[in-house]
Amino acid sequence: MEIHIVNNYQELSKKAANIVAEEIDQKSRVVLGLATGSTPEGMYAQLVKRYRDNKLDFDQVVTFNLDEYAGLSPDHPQSYYYYMRCNLFDHVNIKPDNIFVPSCFNNKDAGVVCGEYDRKIDQSGGIDLQVLGIGVNGHIGFNEPGQHLQTQTHLVDLVEETIEANSRFFDSIDQVPRQAVTMGVGSIMHSEKIMLMANGKNKARAIQESFGGLVSTRVPASLLQLHRNFILLIDKEAASLF
Ligand code: GLP
Repeated sequence: MEIHIVNNYQELSKKAANIVAEEIDQKSRVVLGLATGSTPEGMYAQLVKRYRDNKLDFDQVVTFNLDEYAGLSPDHPQSYYYYMRCNLFDHVNIKPDNIFVPSCFNNKDAGVVCGEYDRKIDQSGGIDLQVLGIGVNGHIGFNEPGQHLQTQTHLVDLVEETIEANSRFFDSIDQVPRQAVTMGVGSIMHSEKIMLMANGKNKARAIQESFGGLVSTRVPASLLQLHRNFILLIDKEAASLF
């Protein structure tokens, strides 16, 4: 595990963008696993800036998003697809055919959506760099703490803590979807390289529980300790209990 502790959110965003940009620069075609949430917003802004400054080219970039709320169409303002368009896709030269998000809406069969998603990841040759945030309860993607964790892309019931944490993006908590489609921990762990980002005091406990002790399915992010090419990128506040 490679650990970087930076001073603040701006440094975190720049460092994360450096790691992503290096990956894009090094490979003729790169497959990125992408995360949503407030944590990576600054990183996406940095990547857009570098594209505008002609320092980064997304022409040969393929992306797979980690997760998506079940029942929200890609044009729903709270969907993760919409978030990705606003924060990255609409501002760079990525090809629409190279964008994948596990959207499941209009009564699509979740089993079919999940199976197809895993096949597409395989067909693309697997993920080169997976970017992750972390939930306050230690979840990654939407893999919630539990006795068992699923390996592949699947439909998940969100726990109350996550619904509450994510309600800040919705008008009211009742509007937060109760289910989501998420890559499984196996799909995440199969990535060539993984970078988890976290900032702020409210993530300190999750960081301590995930990386300061034992590996447990009760803290899904702790499994990342087993990955051979894992980068933990956190600011001082998130590192304060570590
Ligand atoms: C959601 C997402 C996760 C994300 C987490 C933290 O639950 N499914 O992928 O890491 O929120 O989000 P934030 O960065 O807003 O704290």
